[in-house]
Amino acid sequence: MDQAKQVSILKELLRQIDSGENADAGVQYKVPTSIYADRALAEQEWEHFYRNHPQMIGLSGDLPELNSFLTLNDFGVPVIATRDKSGKFRAFLNVCRHRATRVETEARGKRKLFVCPFHAWSYSSSGDLVAIADQSDFGDVDKSCRGLIELPAVEAAGLLFVHPKPDGELDVEALLSRPLLEEFESIGFDRFVFGTDKTIDKRLNWKLANDTFGETYHFQKLHKDTLGQLFIGNNTHLEEFGRHHRFTTANLAIHQMRELPEDEWQIQFATFVGYHLFPNIQMFWTGDTISLVRIYPDPEDPGRSISQVSIYFTQEAYQNAMAMDESAREQAVKDTYKFEEGATRSPSIEGSLEVFTSTIEYEDYVMGEYQQQAAESGLAGEAIFGRNEPVLHHFHRSYREALGLPHFETV
Ligand SMILES: [Fe+2]
Repeated sequence: MDQAKQVSILKELLRQIDSGENADAGVQYKVPTSIYADRALAEQEWEHFYRNHPQMIGLSGDLPELNSFLTLNDFGVPVIATRDKSGKFRAFLNVCRHRATRVETEARGKRKLFVCPFHAWSYSSSGDLVAIADQSDFGDVDKSCRGLIELPAVEAAGLLFVHPKPDGELDVEALLSRPLLEEFESIGFDRFVFGTDKTIDKRLNWKLANDTFGETYHFQKLHKDTLGQLFIGNNTHLEEFGRHHRFTTANLAIHQMRELPEDEWQIQFATFVGYHLFPNIQMFWTGDTISLVRIYPDPEDPGRSISQVSIYFTQEAYQNAMAMDESAREQAVKDTYKFEEGATRSPSIEGSLEVFTSTIEYEDYVMGEYQQQAAESGLAGEAIFGRNEPVLHHFHRSYREALGLPHFETV
């Protein structure tokens, strides 16, 4: 991100902190709580946003080497993604062309050959059917017509995108816009390596999980003993990129910027830089790490969602994290919410997930479960997004537009 942009965002956050004002959306936005429980709407979302929409499945660092692979089954389509022997990112249905079981059952790894566990048909990382076990008994098969079914796949600015339909259109530049891709390129998302992951499976609608990442009004209330120890709260910088956005909020280190010349200000140490890629991605860059949250509905149940959290590290931070002994790792978890003036601690593998457990899973998503119960009661009426919650306005406006639905009332 260019320096002038970093300085202007940090100045706006400092202005808000000094004046005690949060960002102002200009209006309040009302949403009926039924949007979180409506089955017909949930079906529309699943078809529109998941079965027929490009999906960001990870970062380049998920496929670090030739013949690396990744499997997933989050949006109704079993996928195997590979970096083939030429280095190209590919994606296929993780479906054997013999009897349609899964070819690969591990979540990630490296293989030159994928051998189906059922009858040992084998495929290369380019999807070619290489061998059929006992073929003389099986009978003739034209192997060239029985490779894995390929899905559109694009690697851009360190991000991996797949379209869930073999004939789907996948134009990442049109999807994200050039300015957003350039910003990711300038940060160097392709430098980050996969560190660790976790799944959060909870009783809240996928939009409520998204809403968790949409305001800082609650930081010093709900999170006063967790994330609120590090982040000031009640300050927000939002920049929209079509339906996507960048969302930045200050941590305590922002005050150190006041002592430094502006050309030394570094946004990633004074804030978290959050990116929402519509409809279901939340990504946070904090200097040494990127945290990626991919949020998926349960197509059978509007009251359940699954958040797939992955943490990526710079090479150097990853090496430091792997070199930590057990006591250093335990200490890092204990120190998750400890702010030290001027200190830049190297993240640990376990500590990097702690925020997603104690702040997101045990605080935010618990509020979301209560909101879900209220929505399902059918008696909770409207929720209000305040003037100080512009990020929520943007997500819900984009969502309504994408489904061709009218906006709700603003006041
Ligand atoms: Fe929160």
